[in-house]
Amino acid sequence: MGTMRITAEQGDLTTTSVDAVVNAANSTLLGGGGVDGALHAAAGPQLLEECRRVRAARWHDGLPVGEAVATGAGRLPARWVIHTVGPNRHRGQTDPALLASCFRRSLEVAHEVGARSVAFPAISAGVYGWDPAEVARVAVRAVRDTAPGVPSVDETRFVLFGQEVLLHFERALED
Ligand code: APR
Repeated sequence: MGTMRITAEQGDLTTTSVDAVVNAANSTLLGGGGVDGALHAAAGPQLLEECRRVRAARWHDGLPVGEAVATGAGRLPARWVIHTVGPNRHRGQTDPALLASCFRRSLEVAHEVGARSVAFPAISAGVYGWDPAEVARVAVRAVRDTAPGVPSVDETRFVLFGQEVLLHFERALED
């Protein structure tokens, strides 16, 4: 219950040992490529089952952009997967507040379920076409702004696939 540690590292979310890994999902919650595909492949079919139940129970029309929802993590080392839907630049979703909401809502959900450590990918920086440097700035600011409101989350790790994306996050953390 203190200040949140916020770090960036190069890595693969499917092998990151934290309480909750955040999935860069799409609104259907039925899987896809990128992080979404990798997490579902590593978690096993149970994750898709849980996502189907979330759809049926609460998000009939799909998870809205900027929202977040937790499921179990199947065979992943994490205990929870927190699914969030980033803004898609190719669909004209360019409002940074939408992207900031992904990070804020994911941390709020982590706090609600009792996750003490959370690992994020660079949401929207892949298929959804956002500039990694802008994602890094928005992500770091959103996590720093949300931290006081989620006291039980004491560690947030940005886990980045490429060296280039890592550099953007390291720069954003230095500001
Ligand atoms: N671990 C960490 N980061 C990863 C991994 C991984 N295993 N796989 C990919 N990444 C990185 C990408 O290199 C990119 O920098 O995560 C970032 C986000 O890329 P995407 O996974 O493409 O996510 P996003 O841009 O938000 O697009 C979401 O893609 O996979 C589909 O179903 C998904 O429709 C949704 C869309």
